[in-house]
This record gives sequence, C-alpha cells and structure tokens, in this order.
Amino acid sequence: MKDKIKKGHKDFLTLKDYTKEEIEHIINIAVKIKKDGQLYKNLLSGKNLALLFDKQSTRTRLSFEVGIRQLGGNCIYLDSKSLQINRGETFKDSAIIFSKYLDGVVIRTYKHETVKNFADNSSIPVINGLTDLYHPCQILSDLLTLHENGLLRKDIKFSYVGDSNNVLDSLLIGFTKLGLDITVGCPDNYRPSDKILRCAEEQSKSSGSNICITSNPAEAAKNADIIYTDVWVSMGDDESSEKISYLKKFQVNSSLLSYAKENVKIMHCLPAHRGEEIISDVLDGNKSIVWQQAENRLYAQKALMVYIYSNIKL
Ligand code: CP
Ligand code: NVA
Repeated sequence: MKDKIKKGHKDFLTLKDYTKEEIEHIINIAVKIKKDGQLYKNLLSGKNLALLFDKQSTRTRLSFEVGIRQLGGNCIYLDSKSLQINRGETFKDSAIIFSKYLDGVVIRTYKHETVKNFADNSSIPVINGLTDLYHPCQILSDLLTLHENGLLRKDIKFSYVGDSNNVLDSLLIGFTKLGLDITVGCPDNYRPSDKILRCAEEQSKSSGSNICITSNPAEAAKNADIIYTDVWVSMGDDESSEKISYLKKFQVNSSLLSYAKENVKIMHCLPAHRGEEIISDVLDGNKSIVWQQAENRLYAQKALMVYIYSNIKL
C-alpha cells in the first residue's frame, strides 16, 4: 500500500523480502539490546501494536508483548475468535480498520495468503508471527543464538532433522540468504516443497550456500555441529497423518547424536513433544541450547521492531 511506503515502514512476512545486510543488521541490534535492556526504551512511545492470533502461542506472544512494552509501546492481544473476523468480516476489511487505529500488527494464522492479503490492504507494518509456510521471527532468534555460540559460519554443519514444516522452510530461506550451508534429514516423501527448494537454490547461486537433503538420519547427523528439530505435527496439521511412522527414525536421541561431533549443539524452536521428535535426556542435556534460543526470541523481536520503526535505510 502506498501509505506504508510513504511512512518508510516495512512488513516482515518472510526472510525472502529482507537482504542479507538487513538480517545481519537486525542480529547486531539484538546483540546490543541483549547487553543493554534500556536501549531504544522510548522507540515505540505513543504507539499501539496489536497481536492478532489465530493459533496458540507462548514464546511469540510473550516476546512481542514484553518487547513492545520494553520499547515503550502499548500492546493489545487479540484472539481472532473474539473479533468480527470470526463472524465473516473479511481480513481485507479488518486490515483497513486496523490501519486506522494501530501502528503495527503481528499476525499468527493458518494460511500464509491471509497475512499477505492483510499486508496488501493495510498501511501499517505487518509482522508474520507464524503461518503454515513460514516462521521468520523464529529464525532471527536462531541466528542470534548461533552467533552467540560462535556458530554463525559457513564452515559448520547445521543439520535440521524431522518434519518439513514452516520452521524448516524459513531456515532454508534464511540460511541460503546469508550464504550458510544447511543439511536436511527428512523422509523422501516429506521433503520441503519444490517451491521452497527452488527459492533456496536460487538464493544459493548468489550467496554460495550448499543445501544437502538426505533421507538417511545418520548421514544428516554425521559430523554435525548443530542438530535442529521441530514437532512432527504442526498446528493445523492432520494429527492422524501416517507421516509420524516415517518420521520415527529421525528422532533426536543419543543414538542419533553418536554420529555428530562430540560438542554438537541441539536446537529446537519449542514447544517440544518430548519422546516424539526429541527425547528429554537430549532436550535437558548439556548439549542443548534450546532455552537460550527461546530467551533470544525477546531480543530478536525487539531488534526487528527497532529496525522497522527506526526507518533505518541500509
Ligand atoms: N517457537 C514458537 O514460536 O513458540 P510459540 O508457538 O510458543 O510462540
Ligand atoms: N512447526 C510448529 C512451530 C511452532 C512454533 C508449528 O507450526 O506448530
């Protein structure tokens, strides 16, 4: 929408729309904010941002609610069931109304098209808080966590094992944008979509990333510096799907870890389904950096808002 361009504000719908420099800049802001919580404390003063959520959330909701308040703004949580959207008012009409009252909105919903449609019809920044296709806010936190562990480098082996879902799709987009290598261990019949792979491969041509996809979990884990996993059934997925039977051999357990480097780090965006995609001993063990990853959601989300609302031009 023209207004939005005039205000200089950006949406954050997928990492595709952000450059390598912008992503790295956001991570740098996050590092500074984590050191000094007082930084940018008045940035959102006088601004009202809403969270419009159609699905459950703990980390995304809390990190944005707390982050908005720490930046001096006011946050309004909206469960979409309580809005007229639930009685048939269109997202397009709602987007126009939201733009009249608010300065920004974080949306968590089912179809990615819904967030795009909302962004196309609003004059305020729209942030994707998770859709069926992407979870870009999570990846900002993951990149910050890798940076803090000295692992945001091309010469490390980052392996995602498990379901090809929104988190993996966003990891593929983010990693290939930054020129990082990524290995995926997943069943042959549950690979990332052709559309995502085409986009990741296209980005790799200029960034120099290598993408490796294997249906052999041991091969994915072999010499890995990082093993990342996520739930086998995402919100909105069919719980009775036969997919689970194919995913069982991709469980992150001590046997899988035996293929990885001795000092491998374990990541998970959480919530975890203990005993399914990851066992408790690994999640709670000394190789796990999942709690740091979850904490970093706050700094990553604040940094994203600082980038959007400071109208920084790179
Ligand atoms: N990782 C993440 O987005 O967690 P929530 O679903 O709790 O927000
Ligand atoms: N893939 C998971 C991520 C939750 C944060 C889901 O979409 O449910």
